[in-house]
Amino acid sequence: MAGELWEGRFDGGPSEALQALNDSLPFDRRMFRHDIEGSRAHVSMLCDVGLVTTGERDQILAALDTTETEMASGEFVALASDEDIHTAVERRVTEIAPEAGGKLHTARSRNDQVATDLKMWTRQELGELAGLVLRFQATLAAQADAVGDAYVPGYTHMQQAQSVSLAHHLLAHGWALSRDVDRIFDCLERMDVCPLGAGALAGSSLGIDPAQTAAALGFGTPFANSLDAVSDRDYVVEAMFLISLLGVHLSRIGEEMILWASTEFGFVKLDDGFSTGSSMMPQKKNPDIAELARGKAGRLIGHLTGFLTTLKGLPLTYNKDLQEDKEALFDSCDTIRLTLLALDGMMSTLTFNTEAMAAQADNPYSAATDLADHLVRGGMPFRQAHAVVGKLVRDALAGVGPLAQLVAEHQDLGPEAAKLLEPGVSVRQRNSPGGGAPEAVVAQRAAFAAQLETDQGRFAAL
Ligand code: ARG
Repeated sequence: MAGELWEGRFDGGPSEALQALNDSLPFDRRMFRHDIEGSRAHVSMLCDVGLVTTGERDQILAALDTTETEMASGEFVALASDEDIHTAVERRVTEIAPEAGGKLHTARSRNDQVATDLKMWTRQELGELAGLVLRFQATLAAQADAVGDAYVPGYTHMQQAQSVSLAHHLLAHGWALSRDVDRIFDCLERMDVCPLGAGALAGSSLGIDPAQTAAALGFGTPFANSLDAVSDRDYVVEAMFLISLLGVHLSRIGEEMILWASTEFGFVKLDDGFSTGSSMMPQKKNPDIAELARGKAGRLIGHLTGFLTTLKGLPLTYNKDLQEDKEALFDSCDTIRLTLLALDGMMSTLTFNTEAMAAQADNPYSAATDLADHLVRGGMPFRQAHAVVGKLVRDALAGVGPLAQLVAEHQDLGPEAAKLLEPGVSVRQRNSPGGGAPEAVVAQRAAFAAQLETDQGRFAAL
């Protein structure tokens, strides 16, 4: 409709190059339901304020229903002149109801329309995303329950540090995801402002009622400033940020599973349905899902920084640059969905090799802090205790004798302290609140389950 929308002012139609660059229908048609829903609310409001008759309203509503059915079934035929989803819907409505259809765009611009449509689309998408994250959290919680008191080396600098319950490790990722869920709810709350009625940029002279359309479309409030309403894409940026950070969290889980599935670690075995083989090397079993979770994070961050860059120099109000919001956002949403689903499948089906984990976690050097703490309990200042144990570790590594023997023979430590080096003992030591000992993890499991239940309630109330 490019040529027709503004035919009064123009001599000729648009060039092919302009259309190819400008048209957004190929990607914004996925917002057709939101566009139609917005048009229903708009025309009902126009009727209530006396700008269209009830007869005209009903004709437009019927034409919108038909258009929606056609678009949903694939029966709808786009014309070369359909520049975007807004023009496509209006064009079809006007074909079906020629007289009344011409009134649909009264007191409305594609500028407030696109801002409204995309907000409604994003709101729905974020709601569904919250459900997927909650599902993945439930998977992690279930795995944490299933592994009981299994334990694993904890790392800093990728060096074995102190052993922790495997459940503790799995729930660490679960807590990061709960902040992602919180960010989704937070974003949904802040974006709960309807831009419809802002017109092209300055509102309307025709006595419209933006509060009515806002309420009809399920928004908390109408906009306060029309210029801001048509220019604001903060919600797109926030959505892409929270998706990027969620993607980073999934990437970190992916990276760990890649390590844990390696021959060198051998901590996890991936299910065949969630791993791939090699075309050449028959022995290979590859963690492609985990690698893609890691890889896709780059793409998500790229969309975020790309669109922030688009926004940074834009003067008020609408500029066509803003059309760049959609492909970035749509791809971010599609990407995170696929990644979450696949990673959820991978994590719920993998099996842990708890013996291999324990064998590493029982490395006596991982109990060095426990030896120092033992000396502290006897009254020695921690700095001094650190030095005593450090010396023993050094002697053991130099071949003076096994660490356990040196500990048992040490005047300030002795056989009681040497028991700290026995398998499965060290992990039970750090039972401070939020710590990695199985005893501390009991409380954490309950706290995590409670948080999950609260968030599931918030999700159900969306
Ligand atoms: N397709 C446009 C977009 O996505 C819709 C708004 C166009 N507005 C305009 N004045 N050309 O941003």
